[in-house]
Amino acid sequence: MNLGHGGWGARVRRRGWGRAGDSGHLVLSRISALRGAHLSDEVVTVFFHTTHRCSLQFAAATAPAEPPMTPMAPSSTPATPARPEVGEAFLRSLPKAELHIHIEGSLEPGQMFEMARRNGVDLPYASVDALRAAYAFSDLQSFLDIYYAGAAVLITERDFFEMAMAYFERAAADGVVRAELFFDPQTHTERGIAIGTVIEGLSRACREAGARLGVSADLILCFLRHLSEEDAFATLEQALPFRAHFIGVGLDSSERGHPPEKFARVFARCRELGLHVVAHAGEEGPPAYIESALDVLKVERIDHGVRAIDSPALMQRLATSGMPLTVCPLSNVKLCVFGTLAEHNLVQLLRAGLKVTINSDDPAYFGGYLLQNYVETFAALPALTRGDAIALARHSLEASFAPAADKARWLAQLQAVSAV
Ligand code: ADE
Ligand code: ZN
Repeated sequence: MNLGHGGWGARVRRRGWGRAGDSGHLVLSRISALRGAHLSDEVVTVFFHTTHRCSLQFAAATAPAEPPMTPMAPSSTPATPARPEVGEAFLRSLPKAELHIHIEGSLEPGQMFEMARRNGVDLPYASVDALRAAYAFSDLQSFLDIYYAGAAVLITERDFFEMAMAYFERAAADGVVRAELFFDPQTHTERGIAIGTVIEGLSRACREAGARLGVSADLILCFLRHLSEEDAFATLEQALPFRAHFIGVGLDSSERGHPPEKFARVFARCRELGLHVVAHAGEEGPPAYIESALDVLKVERIDHGVRAIDSPALMQRLATSGMPLTVCPLSNVKLCVFGTLAEHNLVQLLRAGLKVTINSDDPAYFGGYLLQNYVETFAALPALTRGDAIALARHSLEASFAPAADKARWLAQLQAVSAV
């Protein structure tokens, strides 16, 4: 199939994906160049010793083959003995909002292969298992390279609808009552897909999620920060005929070297339009990026924000203002922000009085949907209590952009569940 100018499938095929070779190497050179992002022209060998540990080894391109990757343990393996008071059944029962989910990051390998088949897009992997084996990341950029390339199978309105419905089915089963979905229009328009195709498919799924699954859902359009502000303005212009279908804008993609200030004017315009505003900040970037997301972009939530821990003054500010952080524990380990879940700073953030929420980010790539993030985080951090679980769920509902009446209803449900 002809993907038109900028067709990702075609470009990716010509230039080569990162692929899991027989040796277990991931060859990630070239892909970054496609995105204008930093180019890692070396072979990166990544070993995951356990589900929760990431360690890296960088080798020259000519290095001999390394041994195969150690197979990953099932992602449900608890790091500590189960504590029934914060076990899976209880965590599932809490009504929760998911506020940080990139819907393209919910595209499961099986679904990706199915869409590739029906759309005539070649995937440079022989099987679902071979694709999964490539999901070993050294940092955010190494993930983004594979993530953007994988989105090339999304062509039709039906593809976007089905991808989102698959997410909603899982979210409903996890006890999610509200989901605010990030989507990246530039990833699709750049390869010739009309923005209306993207938004209409996702929007139809949001309506169906409400009607059939009882999951309230809305869309947040994200600008890719490695592209220019001019490009973001053009994307906003293209999206405006569909203004009724999204409630806010966000900022994602490669953080380092792309500070929030770069998008000051487009965010000001979005605020004038009455859109909610959020931004990724302090995932890999410094606390200064969180400060400028607050001061320059005037965001209502910080996505990630875990690096705030490096600035006591910022921690104080976040606590006093009640600024929500949408933290993504499994993502942070997969992208090597923390070495293990046990080393995650979520407890410190909570104890400092921050409005922390738990989210899945890109669940198909990071080993778990929302409930799995709760379950594994509670298993790995024994300091977390039943009260913390209730607080995390409450924060998520309070920090959502849902209508006030819905929030009040879910908060009452949460109170009822907590009282049992
Ligand atoms: N896009 C998808 N997942 C992302 C993440 N974790 N950080 C920045 N951009 C993203
Ligand atoms: Zn994210």
